[in-house]
Amino acid sequence: MSGRGKNFLDVCGAAPRVQNTWAPLVVSKQEINLEVERLIDAAKPDNGRRASMVVHPEADKQSKGFAPGIDVTIHVLKPGERTRNLRKNSNMVEICVAGSGTASVGGKVTKAEKWDVWNTPSMRVHNYYNDGKEPWVWLTYSNAPLLEKLEVHYVEEFDGATPPSDMDTKQTTRDPGKIARARDLALKTKISEDGAHLLGYEWLIDIDTVESKSLHWPWNKVSSYFPDITEIGKEYNGRRLFVLYNPVTERRIGTTPSFFASLSCSLPNSNNIAHRHSSSSINYYLRGGGHSMVDGQRLDWQAGDLMLSAPGWAMHSHHIGDSQVSTLTIQDHPFQIAVESLIWQERIEEPILALGNQVGFESNRASVGTR
Ligand SMILES: [Fe+2]
Repeated sequence: MSGRGKNFLDVCGAAPRVQNTWAPLVVSKQEINLEVERLIDAAKPDNGRRASMVVHPEADKQSKGFAPGIDVTIHVLKPGERTRNLRKNSNMVEICVAGSGTASVGGKVTKAEKWDVWNTPSMRVHNYYNDGKEPWVWLTYSNAPLLEKLEVHYVEEFDGATPPSDMDTKQTTRDPGKIARARDLALKTKISEDGAHLLGYEWLIDIDTVESKSLHWPWNKVSSYFPDITEIGKEYNGRRLFVLYNPVTERRIGTTPSFFASLSCSLPNSNNIAHRHSSSSINYYLRGGGHSMVDGQRLDWQAGDLMLSAPGWAMHSHHIGDSQVSTLTIQDHPFQIAVESLIWQERIEEPILALGNQVGFESNRASVGTR
């Protein structure tokens, strides 16, 4: 009988690996403020980016994040400071938490005020400028840990409008209305009644595009819609929040192709029923206080805290204190829908469903009046 080769792992009869669910974690407002002060006092780095990642203790060396697939970074710019240009294939959701400044993303300039949210698409040249009088502080959330894990995170930092790697390349443009695409000449045929196709090579290298923009959700505009969710009756079993929807995510209901960002306005002394999802959830509390139960553990939080509030597949519920709570929630929901991995259990007595692949859940909205 011969032995096993060095490139093989015998998995005959093997059980699935038990997943290492990261512990929930609260990073307090005080800890974040101290880090902001440290960044303000530090010498200005050459690239202009005063930044500090909030790293979960269970993160590995190569793919640091606050959740396995999501990093959170605190950024600071002092008045008059500007960062160098950056281009990378990760995407970001960003929120201004103090001061104000301008984000230039692919030529679009967004003036960000407190609690404004915007997104930075992949491979758009971007930089930041503090044109105000106070230190500008903002948080970014990106899918960099996932790309680092895959060893494909592409990042360039440079001055000037053109990335160095584009300097000697020939830019191609195409008028889709006038010039035939090579893929139109390639084979496209259905070979089974239920949909198996064959496509020629050109279909692989000339994918249809959906325009990906940097969009801006100003706090004053978003919050003006809060009565739409706060006036629903108390027996409502859904969440009182808005997804900051970016049409580029289509049916995957996201703010970027990786994440949805939502802003909530939860009623005092309310709570949601325990539920779980394979997407990880990170909460940044804007207003109010309360506590969460995550896999049986109680964690208290208040305005200004950042929390890994739902490690993927951990059962959790959130309990609101005696004033309204507003939260920015980030989850890697659209990414997981794209790869059919987003399993969700809205209530313990209901089945586990792969959202986007199986018919989803309903709230009791249809049977609830207004307060
Ligand atoms: Fe949740």
